[in-house]
Amino acid sequence: MNILSFESTCDETAVAVVQDGRKILTDQIFSQAKLHAVYGGVVPEIASRSHVEAISLLTERALETAGLTRADIDAVAVSYAPGLIGAVLVGVNFAKAVASVLKVPLIPVHHIRGHIAANYLAFPELEPPFVCLAISGGNTLIIDVRDYTDMHILGATRDDAAGECFDKTARVLGLPYPGGKPIDDLAQGGDDTMYVFPIAHVEGRPYDMSFSGLKTAVINLAHHAEQTGEELDRASLAASFTKAVSDSLVPRTMQAVKELGYKRLAVAGGVAANSRIRKDFHDAAEREKIDLFIPPLKLCGDNGAMVGAQGYYEYLAGTRAGSDLNAYASMDVSQNYTQSV
Ligand code: KG4
Repeated sequence: MNILSFESTCDETAVAVVQDGRKILTDQIFSQAKLHAVYGGVVPEIASRSHVEAISLLTERALETAGLTRADIDAVAVSYAPGLIGAVLVGVNFAKAVASVLKVPLIPVHHIRGHIAANYLAFPELEPPFVCLAISGGNTLIIDVRDYTDMHILGATRDDAAGECFDKTARVLGLPYPGGKPIDDLAQGGDDTMYVFPIAHVEGRPYDMSFSGLKTAVINLAHHAEQTGEELDRASLAASFTKAVSDSLVPRTMQAVKELGYKRLAVAGGVAANSRIRKDFHDAAEREKIDLFIPPLKLCGDNGAMVGAQGYYEYLAGTRAGSDLNAYASMDVSQNYTQSV
């Protein structure tokens, strides 16, 4: 079954065709990062307009590169939540039009479920149940993936997402947006013990996280250095900051895997590209004898193929949308789409 899939929830316009949820036939991505870099973050209005400009051309290119025609498409899938509402609406409306013209089913996909499903593309052997840590620019969640479309949130950030924290820290250090990769690169030469940052714990909620205190600590450190004329060791600051993020994520997630008695752990989302976090998870998984799944870098960030992968399993579960499908800025990952057709 070939699913044509669309992703437009933030600053990537992406169109893919995925076969039977596991095989990428084409994955076309247009990143708007350069358009937003000058503003130091994503400008929603610019994001929406850019999606409108790119989505038709990307769709044509996707079919062309895969050597497919419209007749080869069996269904259309689209990220319908969560995200920047104007941006999500572009993908949703385009997908509705395409499904209607092709007379194929329309499958709504939760964006975070898509990130989780990026692992199905990279690892054919991976099947639920497993624990997944989803770490992106807008979300930080520890999820019990009981089945392909049966998910339960074990813990979440109470404030900033991990990716947001990377982006804000990068800004303080004068690094470009999005800041995750530049911080990753800068941290390579640093001493991660030079600066000590707080790791938050939420009373009675062992799997919940908080990153706003860490963000504030970095800002305060930078301001203090500026006022006193102290020279900061930027590489060590980046390394110490990344260590603090990793120490917030890794032990908690491993604890969740242990408590549920699972033997499989997946990590997903843009921040899963971080080299320190990947290494810490690999070390922890080896120690605990857990099978670890982290997608290759190109499948960590937003892409269309992940939507097609999850779309397949949503299709098998009977999820369908009609022409009344709407876009949503926020939505719980455990919530299944309420059928309208
Ligand atoms: O999943 P994603 O592409 O978009 C969302 O759905 O939010 O994640 C984007 C986030 C950004 O905050 C970016 O700075 C972060 O992923 N990121 C990284 C790295 N590469 C991207 N964070 C840490 N280290 C990286 N290497």
